[in-house]
Amino acid sequence: MSNLKKLYIETYGCQMNFSDSEIIGAIMKENNFNITFDKKDADVIFINTCSIRDNAEQRVRKRLLELRSLKKQKKDLIIGILGCMAERLKEQLLEEEKIVDIIAGPDAYRNLPQLLSSVKSGQKAIDVLLSLEETYADINPVKYDSNGITGFISIMRGCENFCSYCVVPYTRGKERSRNVETIIHEAKELFEKGYREVTLLGQNVNSYIWNCEKETVNFAKLLEKVALIDPLLRVRFATSHPKDISDGLLNIIAKYENICKSIHLPVQSGSNHILELMNRKYTREYYMSRIEAIKNIIPDCAVSTDIITGFCSESEEDHNFTLSLLEWAKFDFIFMFNYSERPDTIAAKKLKDDVPEAIKTKRLQEIINLQQKLSKESDIKDIEKTYKVLIESISKKSIDHFAGRTSQNKMAIFSKKTYKPGDYVKVQVTNCTSATLIGKIVD
Ligand code: SAH
Ligand code: SF4
Ligand code: F3S
Repeated sequence: MSNLKKLYIETYGCQMNFSDSEIIGAIMKENNFNITFDKKDADVIFINTCSIRDNAEQRVRKRLLELRSLKKQKKDLIIGILGCMAERLKEQLLEEEKIVDIIAGPDAYRNLPQLLSSVKSGQKAIDVLLSLEETYADINPVKYDSNGITGFISIMRGCENFCSYCVVPYTRGKERSRNVETIIHEAKELFEKGYREVTLLGQNVNSYIWNCEKETVNFAKLLEKVALIDPLLRVRFATSHPKDISDGLLNIIAKYENICKSIHLPVQSGSNHILELMNRKYTREYYMSRIEAIKNIIPDCAVSTDIITGFCSESEEDHNFTLSLLEWAKFDFIFMFNYSERPDTIAAKKLKDDVPEAIKTKRLQEIINLQQKLSKESDIKDIEKTYKVLIESISKKSIDHFAGRTSQNKMAIFSKKTYKPGDYVKVQVTNCTSATLIGKIVD
């Protein structure tokens, strides 16, 4: 009989949070825990949370309500709230959510075993200290929920851009880069285990910087080092801040076939007035010049973006500037959100959340409608073209089909042949449905 305890982890929010859950998994494994996928079976449940918008927090609150009955049935079940919501609300969360035993912020995960022991001796436990150095560089993440082909590597933590609407600088603290050697080591190890794609993660990967004895490694150099591990290892990255995306970086992306031709470059708004209030530190014209640079240096590059609608004082004219930017840029994909005021941010303190919810939603819908048309046009252009696709898995919808992505990050579905996940195949696109290419393997 094993005396290992069972941990169930549920993750919300951005990819960095999912990556953190793999670090949490590793720390807990070292401390006699195994991951379980059945929460009824768990001795400990950790919820790794997100605070980016109010609805992200509401989802966690709802989850906690659902967990009440489980805690009633199992008195010694330990429940921990981790991540950004833990960091934002601190003790308040222990007061408001009686079933919670542990609160741990994003830089406190090494301390989880100690927090657990305090709970066992009858106390509630909290650690929300943010660190200037912690990058968990030496921890080898446990990939407990992976397809075995595509993996994520955190290359930095925190953010100091202080976009006025954003909670991340407060929940994740100072920006710090991770030791380059540990990143390369992790990528090599994944490749040796059969992974064929790594995505380098940070809130603003373009400001990655690591000083070694012999050289200073910036993001372009890091990307090159990862690309040189093996031509069969694809490299992606997210997210790029428009203010820092240099021609030097674009040239590196163009130079290596295995660096994917896809850049996520959040613009947030097409209006200069709003961009200034958001403290994004660039103008519409500057952003457009960066898109032009991408298209010049990497002609086949896909570009995606994020948009916030209804930010403080946004007028119909500001909104039209966003629509016209979308028309001009022809993004392949966008994520769009209604502005959600976050307590204690610069916008919450200094600006008025004065666009009515109904107007935010109306504008969001206009953006959705326009982008649906643009994405469709982009997909139709792909018909009859042939793309190199990395097979990631069997399609969720049909066991006779594989699913994989093009370098441009478009999902493709195609009939199986004698290949397997991890193989590269040439796929000719025959049709498309929303956000997915349908194709066939051409040998
Ligand atoms: N670091 C990245 C993304 C951070 S969060 C960047 O700078 O682009 C992901 C997206 O959530 C943001 O790009 C933004 O579009 C959105 N977002 C952040 N705060 C928000 C808020 N308060 N309300 C609505 N959307 C928000
Ligand atoms: Fe938030 Fe801006 Fe930092 Fe992105 S760059 S995480 S939007 S503060
Ligand atoms: Fe959410 Fe924190 Fe990521 S607020 S988006 S989980 S950095």
